[in-house]
Amino acid sequence: MRNIIISTFVLLFVLTGCSTRQGQYRIGLSQCLDDAWRQKMNDEMERELLLHPEMRISRRIAYGSSELQCAQIDSFIAERVDLLIVSPNVGEEVKPAVTRAYSAGIPVIIADRRVSGEDWTAFIGGDNYRVGQLMADWVLSIQSTQKQALHVLEVAGLPGSTPATLRHQGMADRIAQSGGIHPEVASVMGAWYKEDAYRVVADYLRSHKDVDAIVAHNDLMAIGAAEAVRDSKGYGKGSVRIMGVDGITLGLEAILDGTIECSATYPSRGDMIIETAAHILSREPFVRDTILETILIDASIANPMLMQYRARMHDFETLHIVQLQSESRWQQIRYGRIVIVLIIVGVSFLFLIILAFLFYSQGSIKKEIKRDILPQLEEVQEAIQLSHRDVAFGERLKQIVDDHLTDPKLNVEFLGSALALSRTQIFRRVKAITGKGPLDYIRERRLVRADELLRTTDMTIQQVALELCFSSPGYFSKCYKEYFGHLPSAR
Ligand code: FRU
Repeated sequence: MRNIIISTFVLLFVLTGCSTRQGQYRIGLSQCLDDAWRQKMNDEMERELLLHPEMRISRRIAYGSSELQCAQIDSFIAERVDLLIVSPNVGEEVKPAVTRAYSAGIPVIIADRRVSGEDWTAFIGGDNYRVGQLMADWVLSIQSTQKQALHVLEVAGLPGSTPATLRHQGMADRIAQSGGIHPEVASVMGAWYKEDAYRVVADYLRSHKDVDAIVAHNDLMAIGAAEAVRDSKGYGKGSVRIMGVDGITLGLEAILDGTIECSATYPSRGDMIIETAAHILSREPFVRDTILETILIDASIANPMLMQYRARMHDFETLHIVQLQSESRWQQIRYGRIVIVLIIVGVSFLFLIILAFLFYSQGSIKKEIKRDILPQLEEVQEAIQLSHRDVAFGERLKQIVDDHLTDPKLNVEFLGSALALSRTQIFRRVKAITGKGPLDYIRERRLVRADELLRTTDMTIQQVALELCFSSPGYFSKCYKEYFGHLPSAR
């Protein structure tokens, strides 16, 4: 019975077990924002995840609030995710929550914006200082064609965030180190948003009518700035040269349609982040600190880059369709499996019920046999044994009686001593076997012998009566008639 149960469970495990690796690891992704650059990062992650069905990701967005991001990280810790990916809003503000996750034993990958200290497992992000240098190089290349100092407006990202700080620093250092005329750079804060950038740039242009170039810390703000230029008095569409950062699709399109002049790539590499996560989870070696390269994109390379992005997007969509199809196929297979498992469970259950019933009824049959049939059997057995004994006794009795028919001492006492039984036992047993008392039985045997002698010898009635110990010939004749129904006659 135990074996049957174990084998049923093993079978169920084998039939359902194949799907256990699917979605085995739960990854928490904490994104500080939900802009186009991060959507690109998310898409890259999704694409890579197609190759890693063992991982499933759940994403939370902090919408630019470090406080909300800390709370979201804490909820991931409480849910005991297997790995955490954090793209911090402001590194130092989010750091305590990152440390809590790391100390709780959850591997943490920091993406894009750095967190100081060592409480993280891996970092993957762009080189923001280098981005700042590229911004400066572009400004300096324009400056080199001018006699007066250029008036440059820097539209910075969220203060305190590493990209805003380092891009600013990289640009300032490079300009300070450059020879020749130094451009004049003013800074406004666009906090990464197009609308904020539009507002601060439009404000600035209202009071400054000689801005030559705008460097925005991302493409979105660069486009916002371009719109502000277009709408500002004294300026007009294309009257200020504009550079963005990120080089995402909307930035490349803005370059191609002349809204902005150039951008610096700021790779998001969601694919690399997922690959690193896979390595960490499967305890394979991984690179702890990855700094991604950045290059300047102008109109000459914007088009091929855009085509490449679109092709990749198309591939992703195709892959996604294939994945959906295979998922639905897989779903069908899974349903098929569930049906098989249910059938097996049903059949096993039935089987167990039948077995249980058999066990039960076997028990009750046993009880019945013990209660009713066995005693009867014993009685029958006893009766058989008894009759065996009786037959043997009857034969011995007949033998002894027949051997001593002519002996006048043949009586109950004689039989008692010959058969080693008491008088009472002789009476009881002879009566039980022959149906008559011992003396009647002896007389009957004598009469049978007398009849035989009368028929087979020349002996007279008197001789036979004497021979067989009858007290007188008259008594013999009386007994003979009683037994045979007629008087004796000699030959
Ligand atoms: C998006 C973004 C990008 C920028 C990056 C830096 O949130 O502002 O545009 O390059 O973050 O972390």
